[in-house]
Formats: sequence, C-alpha cells, structure tokens
Amino acid sequence: MQELLLIILAYLIGSVPSSVWISRHFFGIDIREYGSGNAGATNTFRVLGKKWGTIVMIMDVLKGFLATSLFIFLPKYVGADAEIMRVNFMIGLGLTAVLGHIFPVWANFKGGKGVATLFGMVIAIQPLVAMCCAAVFLLVLFLTRFVSLSSILAGIAFAVFILFIFNVEAQSYKVFSVVVALMIVLTHQKNINRLLQGTENKVPILKHRDR
Ligand code: G3P
Repeated sequence: MQELLLIILAYLIGSVPSSVWISRHFFGIDIREYGSGNAGATNTFRVLGKKWGTIVMIMDVLKGFLATSLFIFLPKYVGADAEIMRVNFMIGLGLTAVLGHIFPVWANFKGGKGVATLFGMVIAIQPLVAMCCAAVFLLVLFLTRFVSLSSILAGIAFAVFILFIFNVEAQSYKVFSVVVALMIVLTHQKNINRLLQGTENKVPILKHRDR
C-alpha cells in the first residue's frame, strides 16, 4: 500500500509542468504553442530566455531527483533480495516521474521529452554515471550546438556506460539503461527528422567563433 502511494506521488511530482505553468503565469502564453512546441527547458530557453530556461531546467531535474529519493520512505526490506528490491523500486519511482513529465496530469497529458527529469533520476541512483553523461551532453552541445542531438547521444552513452564501462552488476540497472536510451530516442522522433532534414534548431549559447 505504501509503495502504491509513493508511486502515485512520484507521478504527481513528475507531472508538475514547470514550463507550462511559468509561461502561463508570467507571460500569459502556453510554451507548447511556441518554438519547438515542447514543454521543456530547451524550449523555455529558446522562447523565454536564459533565466526562465534555467529555472525550468532546475525544476525538471529536481522532479526526477526528488521522486526517486522517495525510496527513503519505503518500509525496510530484509533478506537476500532487499538491495535488489530497493534498486528496483528507486528505478520504478524515477521512471514514473519521467512518465509524469511526458504525460502530465496537470497539463492535459502533453508534456516534455523527459531528459532533465531522467537526468535528476540518474543523479539520485548513479551520480558518477550522471556526471559522465553530462560531460557527453556538454561535449556534443559544444561541438554541434544541437540540444536534441546532445540529449540523444547522452542517453545512448548512459546505456554504454552502464553496460560496458562501469560494469554495474544489478540486472535492473542494465535493463533500465536500455529503457532510458530507447525512451530518449522515442521522445526525440521529431528532432531526429529535423536533424536529418537539416532544419533542427541550434542554440546560440555556445557560439563557435566566426572565422
Ligand atoms: O530535452 C529536449 C531537447 O533535447 C530538445 O528540445 O525544444 O529542441 O525539441 P526541443
């Protein structure tokens, strides 16, 4: 019973549509009708500027981190499977929050792509791997200025890190890493099409110097 309540709470936390509420409350617009139409930090940067983009990014990362951290309220499992149960539950809580972000009950189930919330979740369960993924993200962003491509490659890098580099033992982490990579590719279908057609937006924040 306690587990079910925590899962519902994780979904409600993930559902908080930070970019939609901020755009409505402070600007009288719905962010989903502007820019890429995505209810996420990148589009908030694009449409409302650096300050609001940063606020949305922090809020979305926090959602994943807080929802995953709800595992501290779990009853104490005992026995040989206790650690596995704990890990599985943390992953369940985090992924539920990410689903909440993508399909938010507070915003007609039309949310973002889940990258920042996934990142917050990974910080909570595998902080070192999270830092490595952030490094991949920043490197790709610096080289290409495509946030979407940076997100996709960081998501794939997450699976590679878990499966081949960090030799993480728990089976659930391995499955989870593949789910994350697939999830990011799936939520970025429109971006992938735009990247292939050469029409994807670039961010101006890391400008290459003009020659
Ligand atoms: O995390 C979302 C980002 O990867 C792409 O966002 O607005 O460019 O579709 P956007």
